[in-house]
Amino acid sequence: MNSLASVIVIGAQWGDEGKGKIVDFLAEKAQLVVRFNGGNNAGHTVVVAGKKYKLHLMPSGSVRGEKVVIGNGTVIDPKVLLEEIAALETGGKQVKLLVSERAHVIFPFHAQLDGLQEEVKEKKGTAAGTTKRGIGPCYMDKAGRFGVRMCELVNEQLFKEKISDLYARAEKQLQAYGKKPEKTLEQITTEYTEYARKLKKYVGDASEEVNDAIDEGKNVLFEGAQGAMLDIDHGLYPHGTSSNTIAGGACTGAGVPPTKISQVIGVAKAYTSRVGAGPVPTDLGESDTAKAIREKGGEYGTTTGRPRRCGWFDAVTVRHIARINGLTGLAITKLDVLSAVKKIKICTAYELDGQATNKQPALASDYAKCKPIYEEFDSWQDASEKEWGEIAKKGYNALPKEMRAYVERISQLTKIPISIVSIGAERDATIQLKRIF
Ligand code: IMP
Repeated sequence: MNSLASVIVIGAQWGDEGKGKIVDFLAEKAQLVVRFNGGNNAGHTVVVAGKKYKLHLMPSGSVRGEKVVIGNGTVIDPKVLLEEIAALETGGKQVKLLVSERAHVIFPFHAQLDGLQEEVKEKKGTAAGTTKRGIGPCYMDKAGRFGVRMCELVNEQLFKEKISDLYARAEKQLQAYGKKPEKTLEQITTEYTEYARKLKKYVGDASEEVNDAIDEGKNVLFEGAQGAMLDIDHGLYPHGTSSNTIAGGACTGAGVPPTKISQVIGVAKAYTSRVGAGPVPTDLGESDTAKAIREKGGEYGTTTGRPRRCGWFDAVTVRHIARINGLTGLAITKLDVLSAVKKIKICTAYELDGQATNKQPALASDYAKCKPIYEEFDSWQDASEKEWGEIAKKGYNALPKEMRAYVERISQLTKIPISIVSIGAERDATIQLKRIF
């Protein structure tokens, strides 16, 4: 078992932690990169030699030209998938892709329902601020066992039968909001039959592929989407997403047993950001500090372009996530961004109803009442992108001493060793401290 090299990378906060960059960095040594949850709600930005790749559905590893798998735990918008394949090919990348035959398909009425459900929730204060990509309604159909899977999509006759049932169900659901599906059954059938023709060659038994790769001793990288605080079970319900974003989701979402996983790396930003609705205790609102971090960090959603809320690093949250995910290492990203401020804070505990606590409340209403208890740190001198790259080449000890003190305190508070430190968007602005592959 010790010789296994299958590593899960998950977001240890609210998504947008810089997983795309870390996965791309680790993918250099991986022979297979696997996505296991979510759909095109995700947004991964990978920068290679100044060129930006914005991916939503394709694993970030595809930028390396490695073989990639989209597992059964994902939900697939075929139009988006085909567009991303085309964009990678236009960029000169060879696409080697296998999509699980068991992954569920997103239809236009899912996105329509997503928007309508959110409107109702917004009035009640229970909205998540979804990406409106139809993720929730598609997972609802999956859990209700009404859904259409990739194996049915690529079987023309079966697809016709399945889609007419699902369409009838969507019509009824939309009726409750006084709406009709934006596209007719015929339009959807024609459009999706065409997608199916193009995608058929990519569809197959993904679990077999992934397990075989692990058994053959290949380096396999599992790329989580979103962040663990958005997990349907362990995140901040109901303000999260509809899939399991935690490491366990890699097992169910790719069809691999827990006994075949060797490491779990949690990616955490040096501060906190959140796109979407719901309380975040360390949120700095529209303060000058938040604005400085947002501007320097380019904190705008990759998928929706929404400005992200920014705040201090929350060690209570990351500790909770570390336990649930069994993190073996942390990758701390965007440390360079904090040079935008003079003083930095870490939330070490919350005050809830006059009591200090280290627990992550299950009730969102309790979470909204949590007041962060902070420790303060000095920030470090700014440097240009090129200079950060030079510093990274010299290794960890070349980092500003204040930055090292900050990183080491995060490790102490979360009780997780630091595996990677990232000080810029480019691949070379990365320092690896622990062996991963
Ligand atoms: P959904 O996944 O579109 O249903 O959105 C549910 C919640 O997850 C919302 O708060 C979204 O803003 C958030 N979310 C979904 N995907 C991402 C992501 O990739 N990064 C950050 N937040 C996300």
